[in-house]
Amino acid sequence: APYAFGMVGLGTMGRNLLLNMADNGFAVTGYDKSEKMIQIFEEDGKAHNLKGFSDIKEFVQSLQTPRTVILLVPAGPIVDSVILELEPLLDKGDIIIDSGNSHFTDTSRRSLELKDKGLHFFGMGISGGEEGARFGPSLMPGGDKKAYAVVKDMLEAVSAKVNGDPCVTYIGPGASGHFVKMTHNGIEYAIMELLAETYEILKNGLNYDNQQIQKVFDDWNKGRLQSFLMEITKDVFLFKDVKTGNLLVDEIKDEAKSKGTGKWTSQVAMDIEVPIPTIDAAVSTRNLSKLKTLRVALGEAFGPSSPIKTEGDFIAHLEETFYFAMVAAYAQGMHLLTQASIEYKYELNLAEIAKIWRGGCIIRAEFLEDIYQAYSKNPELAHLYADPAIQAKIKQSLKGTRTVVSAAVEAGIGIPAFASALTYFDTLKTGRMPSNLTQAQRDFFGAHTFERIDSEGIFHADWNQKND
Ligand code: 6PG
Repeated sequence: APYAFGMVGLGTMGRNLLLNMADNGFAVTGYDKSEKMIQIFEEDGKAHNLKGFSDIKEFVQSLQTPRTVILLVPAGPIVDSVILELEPLLDKGDIIIDSGNSHFTDTSRRSLELKDKGLHFFGMGISGGEEGARFGPSLMPGGDKKAYAVVKDMLEAVSAKVNGDPCVTYIGPGASGHFVKMTHNGIEYAIMELLAETYEILKNGLNYDNQQIQKVFDDWNKGRLQSFLMEITKDVFLFKDVKTGNLLVDEIKDEAKSKGTGKWTSQVAMDIEVPIPTIDAAVSTRNLSKLKTLRVALGEAFGPSSPIKTEGDFIAHLEETFYFAMVAAYAQGMHLLTQASIEYKYELNLAEIAKIWRGGCIIRAEFLEDIYQAYSKNPELAHLYADPAIQAKIKQSLKGTRTVVSAAVEAGIGIPAFASALTYFDTLKTGRMPSNLTQAQRDFFGAHTFERIDSEGIFHADWNQKND
């Protein structure tokens, strides 16, 4: 059999990843139901003389054993139906790598089902979009460690590199790869929302035009806020619409869609009781954006926001605010990974995860180097806020953050993610929260009991008894 690796699904992502593998010297082929997709694949892969299959049996037979089949098909039931087709054609010891954005619980189920049949099932997160797949993505593979040895060299070759280090590492057992990718997307949602709220402050609070807004993001992208998302966002503001000749950003509806990975992050965080309010705010703000009719009606009833009254160097304060909230977003994502690693026994190495996110992926950013350093210095770090170097930087940004958040609130500008980041921080540094009252209330109306600060055990009070 001539081929080392086979891909199921020759859509843009699958095709680009195959071309990337071929560029790196691997013998690859692909399968797709659609003849048209095979044609495009063979055309794009002409330089490497790539050939595809429309017959799944011939495709499987063309692979060297133990076979490695990579799936890049839409997440959901399609993954199950592809597995069902493949399974009778594969032998014990063969490897299936699902590289879509599958829900980690589906990946757990599938790997258990296939384990019984002697097949290794890997869940691998891929980030970096079409460009990443073609020229170097960040890869998050999780599953059987022995099977990983078979694909390790190939994954390292095709991944993005930062200072020569590949943006791929063995994430951990089970569905950990997909869990980490999901969390990556949760952080992605939060950073995108912070950029949107910055745009809102600049546009409606300071009356900046698109050129001025572009300039702010461009300047920031040269400093500690440098990131892929900052970089593409600045370019959005100069992009002309071919249809109208106006800037395209102004012609796009203000209703954000999503495919679910951000929502899953919030859902899972609720399930395992990890607070990630800035990610939650990003998810629910996309939902809020869809209430267009209601928003317009309420805008008429209550009036628009006011201009922001600026004090001092407001843009410098805004940069500090962005920095502060960005730290919160990554910190919450990392905290979710810390807790999930305990909950699901993923054995995650947070330093390694930060390291492979420094390149290739959508949330790649200058700041990931700081996260990498923090977890390298202390692998047991309970929270990013506990790192002394990060603490020093947060302290410097705090005053500016309070100024900007107050100013936006005063002006009536909606900043759910910025506000949540600040209030998350303020609550997290509260030694004694008002939650004693919550416990008193629960015990009052439901006899749910409470614990005391002065003695061990569980207590209940007869709250209706007058005892003054
Ligand atoms: C990536 C992206 C990628 C995709 C998201 C978009 O890391 O390359 O996260 O996976 O663009 O699924 O998600 P939404 O459609 O939910 O915004």
